[in-house]
Amino acid sequence: MDKIVIRGGQKLSGSVRISGAKNSALPILAAAMMADSPSILHNVPALKDIQTMMEVLGFLGVQCEKMEPNSVRVDPNGLHQFKAPYNLVRRMRASVSLLGPLLGKFKRAVVSMPGGCVIGPRPIDLHIKGLSALNAKIQVEHGYVVADGTSMRGSDVFLGGRFGSSVLATANVMMAACLTPGVTTLESAACEPEIVDLAQFLKKMGAQIEGEGTHVIRIEGQTSLKGAEHTVIPDRIEAGTYLIAGAMTGGRVEIQNVHYRHLFAVIDKLREAGAYIESRQDTITLRQEDPLKVVDVITLPYPGFPTDMQAQMMALMSITDGISVITEKIYPERFMHISELNRLGAKISLEGSSAVIVGRKKLSGAQVMASDLRASAALILAGLVAEGETQVHRVYHLDRGYERIEEKLRKLGADIERVPETQEEKVTVGEEL
Ligand code: EPU
Repeated sequence: MDKIVIRGGQKLSGSVRISGAKNSALPILAAAMMADSPSILHNVPALKDIQTMMEVLGFLGVQCEKMEPNSVRVDPNGLHQFKAPYNLVRRMRASVSLLGPLLGKFKRAVVSMPGGCVIGPRPIDLHIKGLSALNAKIQVEHGYVVADGTSMRGSDVFLGGRFGSSVLATANVMMAACLTPGVTTLESAACEPEIVDLAQFLKKMGAQIEGEGTHVIRIEGQTSLKGAEHTVIPDRIEAGTYLIAGAMTGGRVEIQNVHYRHLFAVIDKLREAGAYIESRQDTITLRQEDPLKVVDVITLPYPGFPTDMQAQMMALMSITDGISVITEKIYPERFMHISELNRLGAKISLEGSSAVIVGRKKLSGAQVMASDLRASAALILAGLVAEGETQVHRVYHLDRGYERIEEKLRKLGADIERVPETQEEKVTVGEEL
């Protein structure tokens, strides 16, 4: 396995192009199976999770063929399987988004229950509740969700949960409803940009959907859908990560291929922290000239501050003079990065689902271990400003969600490289199953 080695202290400056959104591309790839003809998808990021989704689709008989580095042709004509087995699903939680399309298209689905993960428990009760409301008969047997959709019909569905709306439950029920007779109305639906992007793709396929981007989505079921061509939206989390990299290093970073509005909550907090940010067309520029100021952050469903930016924001606050509080409202246990940031000299403590961060003048390079995708990004950000060398192990987490991060950061002037771990490190660091 590889590790990322960073020698901190470089001010970042220059431009970086943002890739397509992982969390849009994943359900869109799954949705393409519902058509009667092939779809062409552009701006699909080259990431491990995307590769996993294409492997699962391939197993079901949906042929995914890379045309250019970021374009994929998805041919659903060979779809013959409705069972997504454990050995494939366990590698990526987003495989649960196969449930809706399989039910819509096949009227049957057997999908392995995804496990919890290091960011906390990740139940699927809302997915089951939503699909059951469409009259799918669902049981959980031997670790699998077994769904019979032969008598599905449109219905009113309330999808709110303890932590607000659910992104992938909204995606699943919306996709299934596209091929379910009658009208379905989703109340308390997620309104994340990735849901809007999915709805846009489904509409190009011939689906009748209204209200995407609000909490009420209305879907009129069709008898069939056709393949479509679609360009995936830019990844707002990748974009936010590079903005924070610019702010932490006191640099000037231009990010290209982004939607400003998708980043509003993050930009608002960065401005409050003292960054100068301007946007033109699909470009955002950040300049950090003044000392950073502390800000408090609460993660919330969109358009609130995204949980997927919480760890990166914590890295920023770790080097900001003063005390800040970051409260996690989506995944109250998503704090595995605290201990590793502290290894780099940060001073962060946990009080329930809030982190209290006492900003330090300096961080110091160390060996650290990535626990999940966004935690990995936070450690890299901290490494960019830490004195001396930081080595981030278990970088496969990063490869799930950031396309060529070390190349992009190097282009901005960071001293960063990916190197294979030594034999000794392989033994001591170990592999997570
Ligand atoms: N929840 C339930 N029951 C459910 C589903 C969710 O209680 O049936 C809870 C979750 O436990 C959580 C909250 O509802 O507390 C929101 O979870 P949601 O369902 O929205 O998460 P998701 O759809 O499984 C997507 C992203 C995550 C991102 C969350 C929140 C994809 C593939 N994943 O997950 O992305 O954190 O929305 O925005 O779209 C990441 O990219 O690093 C990542 C984890």
